[in-house]
Amino acid sequence: MANATVVVTSSWIPLLCLVVLSTCTAVSSAMECNGDDRAVLLRVKAQLGDPDLDITGTSISGPVPASYLAGATNLRTLVISDSRLAGPIPTSLAGLPNLRYVDLSGNFLTGAIPPGLVHGSFRFLILSRNRLTGEIPSCYGGDDVDTVDLSHNRLTGDPSPFLFGITRPATKINLSWNKLAFDMTEVRFPHHLRFLDLSHNRITGKVAKSLMDVRLEHFNVSDNELCGEIPAGRFMAAHAKSNSSRVRLDPVLRLISSKWEDNCEWQKG
Ligand SMILES: *[C@@H]1O[C@H](CO)[C@@H](O)[C@H](O)[C@H]1NC(C)=O
Ligand SMILES: *[C@@H]1O[C@H](CO)[C@@H](O)[C@H](O)[C@H]1NC(C)=O
Ligand SMILES: *[C@@H]1O[C@H](CO)[C@@H](O)[C@H](O)[C@H]1NC(C)=O
Repeated sequence: MANATVVVTSSWIPLLCLVVLSTCTAVSSAMECNGDDRAVLLRVKAQLGDPDLDITGTSISGPVPASYLAGATNLRTLVISDSRLAGPIPTSLAGLPNLRYVDLSGNFLTGAIPPGLVHGSFRFLILSRNRLTGEIPSCYGGDDVDTVDLSHNRLTGDPSPFLFGITRPATKINLSWNKLAFDMTEVRFPHHLRFLDLSHNRITGKVAKSLMDVRLEHFNVSDNELCGEIPAGRFMAAHAKSNSSRVRLDPVLRLISSKWEDNCEWQKG
């Protein structure tokens, strides 16, 4: 986790007030600054030059305050998690040149994931537990991404272009609990992939043979619509202790849903 240097325990309103700095009257009538908010405002204001902003587990609501953050060119870390942010992720955040750690998990964010939100090396993009829709921008697979957690959203489409871009060996990718739909049979997973959670989606076809060449530490495709045999050669041999396509939950490799064989029938038909 990033170092947390600004922790705000009150509402989001102070930051909105901060947009217009001391003149709270310019903020819409629904967002008035009270005395407590002012105190928080002063604390945050004192930290404005700090590159790490971490506001977790508060009742802050409303949109991500893009206009407030627009001038924060040295912002490195933006954590506003488990709060009540709503609306789309502003595309303008992509213009913050030093932002490399974004955690907006556990909010009510909607719309598509803008491309290019994080920059530099060891990038983290954590947008889990929101209501995001659309496809995963392929740019996040690029080199030096460390963690991409988009789990528990409403993402759709085929994430293969994103997955193919992954070049760092220990990258952690979590796309579980979405609505991703694609045929896995011919997907060629990057050889150095180690952590991938694709469980609880709508993936069809067979478990890709290319996985035999991937030294997996965590790979979870349970609760999809996959069908057929698990490839058993090379690196898969360590996992594939069963030669059947029956339910099997290897602690490392969670491949199979209880509907496994039904899926085969269904896909044959
Ligand atoms: C992926 O995210 C889900 C839900 O947020 C979580 O339950 C799961 O443990 C994560 N998977 C891994 C491999 O960390
Ligand atoms: C997928 O499997 C991994 C490894 O067993 C586990 O850590 C993770 O929590 C699982 N993901 C979900 C969403 O259950
Ligand atoms: C695996 O194959 C062996 C030999 O062909 C067979 O005896 C065994 O029943 C199979 N195991 C399962 C779980 O299907």
